[in-house]
Amino acid sequence: MILPRGTHDILPEEAAKWHVIEKVFMDLCRTYQYGEIRTPIFEHTELFERGVGDTTDIVTKEMYTFEDKGGRSITLRPEGTASVVRAYVEHKLFGQVNQPVKLYYKGPMFRYERPQGGRQRQFNQMGLEAIGSFDPAIDTEVISLAMNFFQMLGLPNIELVINSLGDKESRQKHREALIAHFEPNIDEFCADCHTRLYKNPLRILDCKKDHDHPLIQTAPSILDFLNEESKSYFEQVKRYLEAIGISYRVDPTLVRGLDYYNHTCFEIMSVEEGFGGQMTLCGGGRYHGLVEEFGGPEAPGIGFGMGAERILIALEKAQIALPVDNMLDCYLITAQPEAELKAVELMAAFRKQRIVAEKDYMGRKLKAQLKDANRKNARFTVIIGETEINQRAYQLKDMEGGEQVEVAEEMLVHELLDRLKREERN
Ligand code: HAM
Repeated sequence: MILPRGTHDILPEEAAKWHVIEKVFMDLCRTYQYGEIRTPIFEHTELFERGVGDTTDIVTKEMYTFEDKGGRSITLRPEGTASVVRAYVEHKLFGQVNQPVKLYYKGPMFRYERPQGGRQRQFNQMGLEAIGSFDPAIDTEVISLAMNFFQMLGLPNIELVINSLGDKESRQKHREALIAHFEPNIDEFCADCHTRLYKNPLRILDCKKDHDHPLIQTAPSILDFLNEESKSYFEQVKRYLEAIGISYRVDPTLVRGLDYYNHTCFEIMSVEEGFGGQMTLCGGGRYHGLVEEFGGPEAPGIGFGMGAERILIALEKAQIALPVDNMLDCYLITAQPEAELKAVELMAAFRKQRIVAEKDYMGRKLKAQLKDANRKNARFTVIIGETEINQRAYQLKDMEGGEQVEVAEEMLVHELLDRLKREERN
């Protein structure tokens, strides 16, 4: 049996890295005052059709949709925003005193895409949403949290690309210009783009098939259609970013692959050499109208999602070792089979005090146990033999310095804790 295409197992050594990046993200969210939300892995299909947009690739081609035994159409979530906004409306979070509502999440998402490096069918996002405020400072907060995250991981060669998709009015004008631009030559485009032309011409700009068509390069830029309000909002976002030292590049062709965006949108790429191009680690932006679409009041939101797998790939390519905690405080070595019971007892006492402890379970000889302790990076070993048990005193060996001291049984936990504390490892 093998696992389904586009999925992967995360084994303990790899999982330890996940813990590090998730902790950095969660600590940052705490610093920025975002609270965690956990929404279901599956939702009613309609949520994504209406939320993400029925002209997007995600909805038309990539959703894992099935009928459940009650005849409902259910979809494994392809992203997090629609669910968070649904929850915001369902729990009437708009009525809370504390506004904007700032939520973060992490977990698996599902898209039926062609798997390749950094693209899976089940992948994990860490994301957040701030709902209820239309203030350029919150756009800056959201972007700066993501940038801080990459900085804290020590990831070099990160680029922030921003754009504005403007408000409804600006978008309407841009839409007309796009139709006029593509209409005469639409036959040169794929069948999907034919549908997109009148339904949502912006989608032509991020078509996976036609992205090299020269008309895409010369398409009218949204920035030329922004009305005064949209323009001034975008200017303020840029000014705030500059004020806190975040560099960015404006890319008027950045449109994002989901329909709910307006005003600020952004992507953060890793432009690490050896990637064979660049990889988008984080994408996000503003969405006005989504809360209303789901039956709530007018409440503008902004957020981002970042791909955990891609972040780990980027870290690996940049040869950045994460500070994973693989320390073993003490390995208990048994010199005779009679020592087993004492080893189990001592180990239980150690673990009660949160001393990371391990022993042999494979009937290894003394020498092989020592080897095992070394392999597992044990900081200390305790050797247990008949004499030791009778004398109620044990040899505590420092595996780094090699020194060995005799410690009375009742002092063992204390002595270990003391030594570990001195090293600030416990
Ligand atoms: P998205 O751009 O579709 O945005 O995805 C965000 C990030 O998820 C991408 O930049 C990428 O790192 C990762 N990602 C997406 N698809 C895959 C895949 N198949 N395999 C691996 N990683 C992937 C959203 O999902 C929006 N909900 C973001 C957002 C939140 N906008 C506002 N709030």
